[in-house]
Amino acid sequence: MPSALPDGDEAPIDGTLPESALRGLGHRPFGVYLHVPFCATRCGYCDFNTYTFGELTTASPSSWLAAVREELALAVRVLGTPVPANTVFVGGGTPSLLGAETLSDLLNAVRDTVGLAADVEVTTESNPESTSPEFFDAIRAAGYTRVSLGMQSAAPHVLATLDRTHTPGRAAAAAREARRAGFEHVNLDLIYGTPGETSADLASSVDAVLAAGVDHVSAYALIVEEGTALARRIKRGDLPAPDDDVLADRYEQVDRALSAAGLHWYEVSNWATEPKAWCQHNLAYWYGTDWWGAGPGAHSHVGGVRWWNVKHPARYASMLAAGNSPAAARETLTAEDQRLERVMLRLRLVDGLPVDFLSAQAQQEARRAASEGLLDEAAVAGVNGRFGRCVLTLKGRLLADAVVRRLT
Ligand SMILES: C[S@@+](CC[C@H](N)C(=O)[O-])C[C@H]1O[C@@H](n2cnc3c(N)ncnc32)[C@H](O)[C@@H]1O
Ligand code: SF4
Repeated sequence: MPSALPDGDEAPIDGTLPESALRGLGHRPFGVYLHVPFCATRCGYCDFNTYTFGELTTASPSSWLAAVREELALAVRVLGTPVPANTVFVGGGTPSLLGAETLSDLLNAVRDTVGLAADVEVTTESNPESTSPEFFDAIRAAGYTRVSLGMQSAAPHVLATLDRTHTPGRAAAAAREARRAGFEHVNLDLIYGTPGETSADLASSVDAVLAAGVDHVSAYALIVEEGTALARRIKRGDLPAPDDDVLADRYEQVDRALSAAGLHWYEVSNWATEPKAWCQHNLAYWYGTDWWGAGPGAHSHVGGVRWWNVKHPARYASMLAAGNSPAAARETLTAEDQRLERVMLRLRLVDGLPVDFLSAQAQQEARRAASEGLLDEAAVAGVNGRFGRCVLTLKGRLLADAVVRRLT
């Protein structure tokens, strides 16, 4: 039997969903997430569900792909009705490590099972060092429409602290190669606030991003995740912990530089040149629509039911080979859970959240937050006092979690 994770209920072994979750399926956007659990080496800050080949003796990319195919077939049986994917996102881990041929096979597996909508957005994450012009040409021809590259920094000593194996210039060069291969939508990920990173280091990273001519940037404050090598180095005193005031200064620096260059925020950690460049797959998460996450440890959400798969690739494959769902556990969100999530996620978006979605008490709190400069006063007031929206100001974006707590 699948083991239940804390907070989850036992998931049915055949993966079936209640009728209530399936109602309206296909009338909302539908996404497919595919989790690739392999990396060449592990970066010291990362706690994603990923393994180096040395750590995995009982699973390989081919056994993983076979298992993902089984899970996609299971998805079609469970959903019971054709729901072509509006978005596909291959994440990891390091999808580019699989090579273009396996990434093509993977996308074909989705096409042949779930199906693809005519205007589907298909993203793959990629690590700069496992890409090349030929790789981008091949995945573009296979139907991928968007590439997201982990750059993190252009400063050599920051990359070294983060255990990144690519050279400082490789990520921006890869972004240019992707654009040359015909990818209109290319994202670069940055991490700011790494111990030892100066404001000048970050400025050079942002300059490199802008010189690469991408239409999307994600910038994340370094999170020290429990159990990582980075957390151990900080605990031992080998590195200082990231400082909250410095992180806030760095966020403002990133926002200022990107905005000046025409990339505007549309989610607290995401900037783009125009709405057409917004990541549709991630927007679907933030809007709480339906997606099926296939692969070890992947999370799914359909009609208010959320579940997550077992993490280990070998266990994941063996559960599917036995004809069972690989879900470890699941939970059914109550109407109140869904309302709280909506506040939490939509507040992070540039369109914000309708004020009248909040309780009377939270509406008062929103007006207080606006008077403190955390929410846009004009947006909260709305036109003639109606149709107000809670939209974070720059100061509010720096304190987004605290604002969410006040409004929930
Ligand atoms: C899970 S990674 C996958 C992409 C790819 N493997 C890579 O590293 O380039 C996605 C992004 O999450 C971000 N990330 C991962 N761990 C993080 C942490 N502890 N703090 C901040 N950002 C993190 C990085 O920017 C990374 O590019
Ligand atoms: S940050 Fe990316 S490359 Fe590094 S361990 Fe995590 S998933 Fe792998």
